[in-house]
Amino acid sequence: MKAIELIKPAGRGEASLLEEIDLNRLPRHVAIIMDGNGRWAQKRHLPRIAGHRVGVKIARQAIETCARLKIPALTLYAFSLENWRRPQAEVDFLMRLLREYLKKELPSINKNNIRLLMIGRMEQLPEGVRKDIEAAMRLTSKNTGMKLVVALNYGGRAELVDAFNAILDRVRLNGLLAFRADEETISQNLYTAGLPDPDLLIRTSGEMRVSNFLLWQIAYAELYITDALWPDFSREKLLEALLNYQQRERRYGGLGNGRERGKSD
Ligand code: IPE
Ligand code: IPE
Ligand code: MG
Repeated sequence: MKAIELIKPAGRGEASLLEEIDLNRLPRHVAIIMDGNGRWAQKRHLPRIAGHRVGVKIARQAIETCARLKIPALTLYAFSLENWRRPQAEVDFLMRLLREYLKKELPSINKNNIRLLMIGRMEQLPEGVRKDIEAAMRLTSKNTGMKLVVALNYGGRAELVDAFNAILDRVRLNGLLAFRADEETISQNLYTAGLPDPDLLIRTSGEMRVSNFLLWQIAYAELYITDALWPDFSREKLLEALLNYQQRERRYGGLGNGRERGKSD
């Protein structure tokens, strides 16, 4: 099976990228910091929210592309804990946009066997948003295709704090005085428990920072930072990122290329 049999290319650029992509070497988990909506709008003398609107369309396209390529998990950073610092009107708009998106797209998400998951501090979200999300997660909970993880009211440090407290609660409850945590204990208590760590982290609009995103999970992720603003991050650009990932040599602290100890000293 070739990528081009899964996706109908929109142009020559997409077609040649699809020819090159190796379906057997795709990331198991792609995480995206969708940044640059505001700058995209400002460049066009439009209000910031106009950028967020186009951003949703691009997110939809990225979801479809990853699902067609059978990438097992896609995480999108939609709203950070720190994003509450923005003007109330922008925050309200983003929450409304999310509900609109769910209402419109849920049937097709479900039809495509996609399982929707949310990570973040759900309890601090407005009630309407929380209810819609819970209903969407329930509706898709039996789906076995791609896991679409939306990071909402998410902060990486807050996630670690919540994990530590969950562990402490369990230790106290069960009187486990001799308990010692290991990496597995921590991973299993994160919001992302059960998901593979991201192999590829994409950030649009050029900022060289991780902005409190998946701090524990990206320990060995390949980073791909592009100057393209999120609303300009076309399918072709996403395919370029995937192909670039396939050209990386992942070493995990070793020497790579089968030159590990015991293989050929
Ligand atoms: C990303 O775009 C979307 C969210 C954070 C919700 P921004 O709104 O951060 O756009 P810039 O970074 O100001 O251009
Ligand atoms: C990161 O973008 C958060 C999301 C994409 C939701 P920000 O625009 O909030 O990050 P900073 O402020 O540039 O670090
Ligand atoms: Mg930003």
